[in-house]
Amino acid sequence: MMSNNKCSISPHGGTLINCFSDNLDGLSQEANKLTSITVTKRVLCDLEMLAIGAFSPLKGFTGEKDYKSILESMRLSSGLIWPVPITLQVNEETYNNIKNKNKIVLKNEKGESVAVLSITEIYKADLEKEALSVFKTNELKHPGVKYLFESGNYCIAGEVKVLKHTYDEFTEYNTGCEGTRKAFKEKGWKRIVAFQTRNPVHRAHEYLLKVALETVDGLLLHPTMGETKDDDIPADIRMKCYREILDKYFPKNRTMLVVMPASMRYAGPKEAILHAIIRKNYGCTHFIVGRDHAGVGNYYGTYDAQKIFDEFKPEEIGITPIFFEHSFYCRACNSMASYKTCPHDSSEHLILSGTKVREMLKAGQILPEEFTRPEIAKILIESMKEKVKT
Ligand code: ADX
Repeated sequence: MMSNNKCSISPHGGTLINCFSDNLDGLSQEANKLTSITVTKRVLCDLEMLAIGAFSPLKGFTGEKDYKSILESMRLSSGLIWPVPITLQVNEETYNNIKNKNKIVLKNEKGESVAVLSITEIYKADLEKEALSVFKTNELKHPGVKYLFESGNYCIAGEVKVLKHTYDEFTEYNTGCEGTRKAFKEKGWKRIVAFQTRNPVHRAHEYLLKVALETVDGLLLHPTMGETKDDDIPADIRMKCYREILDKYFPKNRTMLVVMPASMRYAGPKEAILHAIIRKNYGCTHFIVGRDHAGVGNYYGTYDAQKIFDEFKPEEIGITPIFFEHSFYCRACNSMASYKTCPHDSSEHLILSGTKVREMLKAGQILPEEFTRPEIAKILIESMKEKVKT
């Protein structure tokens, strides 16, 4: 039975943004005459997110008033919740080249023009403050902090007009927000749960997905496919895992696989809020937040990414978070369980850290079936062997 609850969830701020140019020929000609800067893969991902409406209501890179407001209060200067600034950082040399321009063209590493940026202002970022506000640390060991401190002191702000997709992998799975909204309507799904992940789907993930799916109409498996840490499993291998798990263990009429062309920031709690808002823009009504969501190292408490939702009124967030306790296989229960549902001693629980999993895969060891489905373990081990060969 499909639920009867009213849906068609509003995008964040009320309007779904589309930053693709509707005048490609004109803009391309204009772009040829503009001063250019080459941007990083992270910026290309942000551009794609802006273009496809995933960062609605943003139409470009964050200006200083919003930047300060976001760092102080997790809100745009309009008062709308926004937890992480989406900035275009440049170094002093680039700043000196463009400081008198009011428009520039952004290029990818191949030298292709990908977007035109109408500059409204250039300001000096407060990197220390940003690091402590967004990442809760200024340690360079944190990958988000490292990127921040290495990307330059100046921020160029303004709206963008995007000329082409700046994330061009798995194109058939990159539907954008309009695409998922249309698909949900066609499928008659009113309550849709989104799942953020940067990992293959292990049994604990699968447990979360299935429990959540019991209460809604459909599941959007929505992996982050932009830049991730070097030791995270690469996107192409994860994609094989996602296809396999959905194919073998989920009903086709209840699931959709769509890529999220963003880069991981590893901002833990604040990224959880950003992730939720993005999924609202994609048209989802519910969003899974488990343990240490978007975390790295020991920078955040296990459930900080859940607690942060209490800082806002639910209607301001506009998408319902579904919180999960740490889940695992329990030998005594002989099933998946969590600290919320399992009465047994932790010696009965099969819990493997990310580091342990990577070590086992490197050594060609089979991951326990209760931790990872054998089909997924096989894909991961084969990919490790390929990596060793190359
Ligand atoms: S994340 O960086 O995208 O959060 P990951 O892919 O590991 O990392 O997690 C995806 C989602 O599943 C997050 O909401 C995370 O909190 C949750 N999660 C991952 N593993 C578990 C687990 N064992 N128990 C409960 N939640 C989990």
